[in-house]
Amino acid sequence: MPSFTVFKGSKDGVRKSTTTKPDELTGDQVLIKVTASGLCGTDLHYKTTDMALGHEGVGIVLSTGPACKYLQQGDRIGWGYEHDSCGHCGKCLKGSENYCVERAMYASADLDQGSFASHAIWREAFLFKTPDSLSDVDAAPLQCGGATVFNALRAYNTQSTETVGVMGVGGLGHLAIMFAAKMGCRVVVFSGSEGKREEAMRLGAHEFVAMKGKTELKVERKVDRLLVTTSAQPDWKLLLSVLAPEASIHPLSVDEGDFQFPYMGLVAQGLTVQGSAVAPRGIHKDMLEFAALHQIKPVVEKFPMSEEGIKEAMDKLERGDVRFRAVLVAE
Ligand SMILES: NC(=O)c1ccc[n+]([C@@H]2O[C@H](COP(=O)([O-])OP(=O)(O)OC[C@H]3O[C@@H](n4cnc5c(N)ncnc54)[C@H](OP(=O)(O)O)[C@@H]3O)[C@@H](O)[C@H]2O)c1
Ligand SMILES: [Zn+2]
Ligand SMILES: [Zn+2]
Repeated sequence: MPSFTVFKGSKDGVRKSTTTKPDELTGDQVLIKVTASGLCGTDLHYKTTDMALGHEGVGIVLSTGPACKYLQQGDRIGWGYEHDSCGHCGKCLKGSENYCVERAMYASADLDQGSFASHAIWREAFLFKTPDSLSDVDAAPLQCGGATVFNALRAYNTQSTETVGVMGVGGLGHLAIMFAAKMGCRVVVFSGSEGKREEAMRLGAHEFVAMKGKTELKVERKVDRLLVTTSAQPDWKLLLSVLAPEASIHPLSVDEGDFQFPYMGLVAQGLTVQGSAVAPRGIHKDMLEFAALHQIKPVVEKFPMSEEGIKEAMDKLERGDVRFRAVLVAE
């Protein structure tokens, strides 16, 4: 196992490269053969960075290190944005290791490995078994997109009696619609245009609002919780009229700039703004089980795991034309 292929970002586009690893696995390291990977909106931010891309990986265990306890050769597994944490700080101990100060995450640690690759080596502790009823292609987009939206709903105690808003019907958004609907919530979708109405309703939405050209938004019932999954920050002012008193806003978009929100609206309506980044492992595991039980499967477009395939998928995602998650499949 001295070397394997990874696909890296670069100024001239994605390029194939080689990563070299020691011959022996140590500790709880697991060698994985990658079978598929989702392409997340966050990958676009790193397409010109010299680092291995991809963080919605799924594959098969080829071999395990001496300290591995639960995975065996042949197991189907997945991994997401985080691949290590200290294990002993307060955040780790209470199951919020996604906020551990020593967390190892995509784009900030282990830049020589990603899920756009032939193989990867990660700690067993940060790998998740893929439920039998989910294919590798189904499971890939759940590893970041699915985990992120499920966490926003689950970690902050969404009730089935709530009306949940989902803004932006992309990779994250379409999964958020399905998760919230299966949790029993009323789901209102806010999308740029009318184009995704039919599919959003089919995925479980109860109401659809196209925002194009609107200076004021109206809904049948105001939302108690709004997941913002657009690829850029929305006009927060516009949202005030659709939020119920004491509503929570969950900004999930990765974007630059400041959060600008009508101050007195926030104070007078008792609103909560709750940011969140991916999911801790306990919730990630629950998410996979929930998806398997309710057969929540992403709507995907498949591309080959090659320089050309990755470029085509990235270009399409950038144009906003992917319905709704691109998945790269090993050739
Ligand atoms: N917080 C976290 O832990 C976390 C985890 C994963 C991803 N993210 C971030 O979440 C965002 C969504 O990721 P994704 O993978 O779902 O991306 P995506 O598939 O590109 O979906 C984004 C959606 O946003 C809308 N949109 C497109 N261009 C827009 C623009 N210029 N302004 C406003 N809205 C626009 C579109 O929905 P409509 O057509 O319906 O308008 C699009 O489908 C990205 O910013 C990503 O980096 C955050
Ligand atoms: Zn992601
Ligand atoms: Zn820690």
